[in-house]
Amino acid sequence: MVQIEQIFPSLTWRIRHEAMYPDKPFDFVKLPDDFDGIHFGLYADHILTGVVSLFPKNDVYQFRKLAILPHAQKQGYGAKLIEYLLDFCKIQKATRLWCNARVNAKEFYHKFGFIATQDTFLKDGYDFVIMEIILNKEEPTSSEGI
Ligand SMILES: CC(C)(COP(=O)(O)OP(=O)(O)OC[C@H]1O[C@@H](n2cnc3c(N)ncnc32)[C@H](O)[C@@H]1OP(=O)(O)O)[C@@H](O)C(=O)NCCC(=O)NCCS
Repeated sequence: MVQIEQIFPSLTWRIRHEAMYPDKPFDFVKLPDDFDGIHFGLYADHILTGVVSLFPKNDVYQFRKLAILPHAQKQGYGAKLIEYLLDFCKIQKATRLWCNARVNAKEFYHKFGFIATQDTFLKDGYDFVIMEIILNKEEPTSSEGI
């Protein structure tokens, strides 16, 4: 059974550490603005197995630190979290959702409609590319037919 719900920021840290930066000190995965974010946890059979963190700026949302525990990867949990985020952002009327994607996860994000931008950088030993998806495009108001 899989459930996704909003969680306290501190609950993301262990999963981030194990899935993303196991060789760094634990505090490395804490973000300065974690307490301003919206955090979601995926529970598989009641065990916290994946996390993702969302940071809105007006109607543009960034997600960070999508992480699934290593033993549970490639079982569809990452996909479930991304689909949940996309639905959540659409309900919030976000116009754009973006992330700094590890280049080795680029194809994963592609599957959900994210497009790689030209912006790339190297950080903490990983190559990153900014990927984005446009949501809830503002429809131009038309005077036709009036
Ligand atoms: C990247 C990550 C979040 C993907 O989650 P996951 O639960 O393993 O992925 P899923 O099982 O939901 O995969 C969904 C689809 O994407 C594919 N996929 C998963 N990871 C992929 C990757 N790194 N590259 C390309 N495709 C990938 C799967 O094969 C699957 O394809 P299918 O639908 O055709 O079968 C997870 O592997 C992870 O936490 N990795 C370590 C941390 C990390 O890199 N986070 C992302 C930082 S930007």
